[in-house]
Amino acid sequence: MSQMMDHLESYFRGFVPRRDELLLELEREAQTEGIPIVGPLVGELLFILTRATGAVNLLELGTAIGYSTIHLARGCLPALGRVTTLEWEESMAARARTNFVRAGLARHIEVRVGEALQLMAEMSGPFDFIFMDIDKESYLPALPHCRRLLKIGGLLFTDNVGFAGADSFNREIFAAADWRTVNLLGFLPLHSPEQDGLSLALRVK
Ligand SMILES: C[S@@+](CC[C@H](N)C(=O)[O-])C[C@H]1O[C@@H](n2cnc3c(N)ncnc32)[C@H](O)[C@@H]1O
Repeated sequence: MSQMMDHLESYFRGFVPRRDELLLELEREAQTEGIPIVGPLVGELLFILTRATGAVNLLELGTAIGYSTIHLARGCLPALGRVTTLEWEESMAARARTNFVRAGLARHIEVRVGEALQLMAEMSGPFDFIFMDIDKESYLPALPHCRRLLKIGGLLFTDNVGFAGADSFNREIFAAADWRTVNLLGFLPLHSPEQDGLSLALRVK
């Protein structure tokens, strides 16, 4: 049968990954306070990608309350991996640290407080995996830092590339010879927003 199912969005809502009580609580907090988090589908995708690639050194740009960070850290746990996550709001960083203790992951995560581009300029790699989820106008200026810090063969995963502010980033990475990239337009239940683009980019040079 080549016919599509009716009501695809409500159909796929039935396959949202299961979460534990801590993640459900963070989702409720995010919803109540209007904190934009990746939600369970992209969270699970981060877990799967980090686990499947055997990533050990991970960098996250944009921590908020640590929801996506927990998925990254759980993904890299068997490889004894570590996540460095960057957040410019001290209050968010403090809440994230508390959540990492609650998740039993505090030893695997370092939160650095500051503006992501400035912090990256002072960092050295190589990282195996970078997850970018900061203000969209910073995506393009962050790209040279990501290229420098990511190993060849490393993965740059970027959220919210359907936002107007990500347009210059999308064009630049698509044109660059250093990256092989795909943009996925998806229906992402409980993601902020639920219809958005994700960028997966492999550093090849
Ligand atoms: C979309 S939220 C991150 C959500 C988180 N990744 C998750 O899914 O659980 C973006 C966070 O990055 C922080 N942020 C935005 N731009 C930033 C920048 N240029 N440098 C550092 N932090 C930034 C914001 O304060 C906010 O907490």
